[in-house]
Amino acid sequence: MNPIKLKEGVYWVGEVDWELRNFHGYATQRGSTYNSYLILDEKITLIDGVRPYLYDKMIKRLSSLIDPADIHYIISNHVEMDHSGSFPLLTKTAKNATLITSPLGQKGLLAHYKRNDWNFKIVKSDETISLGKKNIKFVLTPLVHWPDNMVSYLTEDGILFSNDAFGQHIASSERFDDEYPLGIVIDEAEKYYANIVLPYSSQVQKAMDAVTPLKIDMIAPSHGIVWRSHVKTIVEEYKKWASNQVENKCLIIYDTMWKSTEKIAGILQEVFESHGIPVKMASLRHSHISDIVADVLTTRFICVGSPTLNSNMLPTVAGFLTYLKGLSPKNRIGLAFGSYGWGGQAVTHVEDILKDCGFEMMKSIKVQYVPDEAQLQEIFNLVKQEILMREWVFNKPPIATRV
Ligand code: FEO
Repeated sequence: MNPIKLKEGVYWVGEVDWELRNFHGYATQRGSTYNSYLILDEKITLIDGVRPYLYDKMIKRLSSLIDPADIHYIISNHVEMDHSGSFPLLTKTAKNATLITSPLGQKGLLAHYKRNDWNFKIVKSDETISLGKKNIKFVLTPLVHWPDNMVSYLTEDGILFSNDAFGQHIASSERFDDEYPLGIVIDEAEKYYANIVLPYSSQVQKAMDAVTPLKIDMIAPSHGIVWRSHVKTIVEEYKKWASNQVENKCLIIYDTMWKSTEKIAGILQEVFESHGIPVKMASLRHSHISDIVADVLTTRFICVGSPTLNSNMLPTVAGFLTYLKGLSPKNRIGLAFGSYGWGGQAVTHVEDILKDCGFEMMKSIKVQYVPDEAQLQEIFNLVKQEILMREWVFNKPPIATRV
C-alpha cells in the first residue's frame, strides 16, 4: 500500500494489522491499524509509530516519500507500545530526530525503552512549534487513554491528530469515513470508546472542551478510519458518550447451567419489553465481554444473571463483572438474578458487584432449581410492580403482550 494523502504535504504512512483479533482482552474481529502520519515541511515530521513487527513495511512506505534518515521530529502523542513500539528501530535510522512528547510521555518512553541517547523536546498544553511553513499545536489530554496522552493539531490544515480518541479497530484498505460504511465505523468507534475510553469520560469532557475552539477539518486518529466528512457526527457522539447519557433500553447478560437462569432471563425480557423498553439478550457463552460493554455504553437497565456454582457465580459472569467494574459506567439501574440448588450465593455476589459499580439496584431475583410458570409469572409481576412504582413507564407501545 502506498502512502495516502490527507492534505497537501500530509500523508498516512501507518500499517494495517489484518490479523489482530485481541487487543489486551478486547475482541478485534475487524483487525486494526496503527496510523502514523508524515508531514513534509522544512522539518520533516512523523506522528506516532506502529508495532515493531510492522516496522519494515512502514519504513518501505515512508521511503517512497523521503529518506527516513531525514526525519527531524517524531511526535509521540501516546506511550502505549502499539504506537511507540517501533521507536527503537526508527531512531536507528532517523538518528538525528528529536522526540516531541508531553512531560509524562518522556517519563513513559524512558521507562519502556531505557534509552539515554534520545533527544527530547517536551511540550506543554497549547504550545505551538513551527515545522517551517506549517505550525503544530499540542493539547495535553491526560488519561485519554494514559496519563501521558496529548493530541497534535496542524493549524494550517485543520487536522487533529487525536491518537486513541476517535479511533476504531478496523483493518481496511479504505482510509476515510466516506469510503467505508459509516454505520460500521460509528459502531466500532462506540465499541472502542466503551472498552478503552469509558473510565476516563470526565477527562474526555475536558479534552473536548480544549479542542472545541479549534477549527477541525479532519480528525486523524491512531487506529482505523480518518474522519473528514463526518467530523461533526463523531464529535457529537463523543460528547454523548462522555456525558454518560443512557437510553431507556435493557441489557440482560447471563450464563446458565441447566437453563433455569436462562428462563429467568426470558421472563425479564418479557416484562421490560411489555413496558416499551427494548431489550438485548447477551449470553456470556456466545458474546464476548468487549462486545457486551459496547451495548452497556448507552443502556440504562443492566440485568446480570448467574446460577450458583460452588457457592459463587459462574466464572464467565465473574469475568464480565470484573471487566464492567473496571470500566465504571455511571447512571445505570442494575438487577441481579439467578437460579440455585441450595446455597444461592451467586445472586448476592452479583448484586454486591453491581452496587460497587454505583448502580441503583432493583430487587434481586432468586429461584431454587427450575422456575415453573407460576414462579415466572410472579417474577413478571414483581418486576412490573417495581417498574410502575418507580415510574419507569415510557410512552412507547408494549413490545410483548403478557400482562
Ligand atoms: Fe492505541 Fe492506548 O494505545
